[in-house]
Amino acid sequence: MLETALTLTINGDRLSLDNISPTLTLLEYLRQSGRIGTKEGCADGDCGACTIVVVGEGADGGWQYQAMNSCLIPLGAMAGRQLITVEGVAQGGLHPVQAKMVELGGSQCGYCTPGFIMSMFASYYDGQRDDLAVEGNLCRCTGYLPIRRALQSLQPVDAEDPWQARLAQTDADGLPALDYQGQGQRFYRPTQLSQVLALMADHPEATLVAGATDLGLELTHRRQQYPVLISLEAVEELHGIQPAATEVTIGAAVPLSQIKATLHGVFPALDEMLHWFAARQVRNRATLGGNLGTASPIGDLPPVLLALDATVTLASTAGQRTVAIADFFTGYRQTLRQPDEVIVSITIPKTLAPGATRRLSQSYKVGKRGTDDISIVAATFTLDLDEHNTIVLARLAYGGVAATPVRAIAIETALIGQPWTAETVQAVKSPLHNAFTPLSDLRASAGYRRQLVANLFEKFFYESASLRSTS
Ligand SMILES: Cc1cc2nc3c(=O)[nH]c(=O)nc-3n(C[C@H](O)[C@H](O)[C@H](O)COP(=O)(O)OP(=O)(O)OC[C@H]3O[C@@H](n4cnc5c(N)ncnc54)[C@H](O)[C@@H]3O)c2cc1C
Ligand code: FES
Ligand code: FES
Repeated sequence: MLETALTLTINGDRLSLDNISPTLTLLEYLRQSGRIGTKEGCADGDCGACTIVVVGEGADGGWQYQAMNSCLIPLGAMAGRQLITVEGVAQGGLHPVQAKMVELGGSQCGYCTPGFIMSMFASYYDGQRDDLAVEGNLCRCTGYLPIRRALQSLQPVDAEDPWQARLAQTDADGLPALDYQGQGQRFYRPTQLSQVLALMADHPEATLVAGATDLGLELTHRRQQYPVLISLEAVEELHGIQPAATEVTIGAAVPLSQIKATLHGVFPALDEMLHWFAARQVRNRATLGGNLGTASPIGDLPPVLLALDATVTLASTAGQRTVAIADFFTGYRQTLRQPDEVIVSITIPKTLAPGATRRLSQSYKVGKRGTDDISIVAATFTLDLDEHNTIVLARLAYGGVAATPVRAIAIETALIGQPWTAETVQAVKSPLHNAFTPLSDLRASAGYRRQLVANLFEKFFYESASLRSTS
């Protein structure tokens, strides 16, 4: 069914919003409508003060409470969704996460507290009550120990818990199709790929949006105007993860947290990079298609895809085509994708090179801080080895060292036929150091980046003895 009104449910109240801009951020809307418990800190997804919880589909197809940054979400993307803000959490008494924060002194000035409460609320129900539950929340005055104690001392969810019961009663229908106009802006949310392509043909000025974790920054920081947005969040063909014996195909609009949960253990290098990718609130929205769509030279997932020889499937009204990720990036923020094409899926092969008996593959990310930071250099290495420990396939892929994500192809070629030993690594360290001409910027100098290119590969060698090989 096609909806033309922007309806959403906040704290159990079903609202139908009229003549409101669909590109107003959810945070702006919440605060303008008097729900000022949700705070604004950075307005760019970094601090977690604006965290709210959305009822979303988990990796197992069941409903989950998912923490998200409301500062990055265009209001149109919330149409048909149920969300909970900090005002809705306490019902007839403090929620268990609030009670623990009070008991254990988890709040001082309190500015960050609503955001922490919402992240903890989500983790209370999904059972992931480790530090990662609050990795996307910053606190400037309490110190994290009391917050961590509060999180760790939470009891299992009570069988009578009303929030748990509400999840079980959630309507299983998917997101409705939407064609909403407000304040001169249009927000489409089709449910079929053919509809996306038709809309793109009808509106060449339109912009695609998936999780909006990148586009949201354009809205808040650059005050960019988007007269027409086409959301990919409800498009069936972009949402599956299809594991087969020889490859895995991932829909371009699957949120990263779902990829992380569904494919855990299949590609160790992907597991590792997703672990360091942003924070949970961002991963609950961000997509692989969006990561490629930004064409950023410092995107963290292109090195993984390059090192695993992935392919990208694109569609337009003229049909579909599949291109090697190695050919996808053509220049600074440029790709093979034409303006009328949408990224449909990414396929990662699982097969080893002929003659290989095992695979070593791992990712590394160096940033200024552990989580929620942009890479200085990201790298993924894949080596296929035969029974004599000889390298039969090598992929050394990097982000942050050139105008595009890039492979060190000359070094890869030189490694073929060599034994996987410390001597082999030493022999390529100097050429690796000089393989690229990275830039200096606020994050790091060119020299530091060059050193990382070589040293991360050496690190891979010394860690490889303890890495799990796949075969
Ligand atoms: C706090 C924070 C931390 C971050 N940390 C990281 C990080 O650690 N590593 C990293 O790599 N990135 C990071 N990012 C950037 C961002 O989260 C990623 O690039 C993410 O993958 C974008 O996905 P999205 O679905 O949100 O894209 P959107 O913001 O929805 O879209 C981004 C661009 O891609 C286009 N697009 C989206 N989907 C498609 C498609 N299917 N076909 C064609 N074009 C498409 C859109 O038109 C838009 O131009 C971070 C962002 C924030 C705010
Ligand atoms: S306001 Fe800082 S993450 Fe949203
Ligand atoms: S309690 Fe003050 S910022 Fe966290």
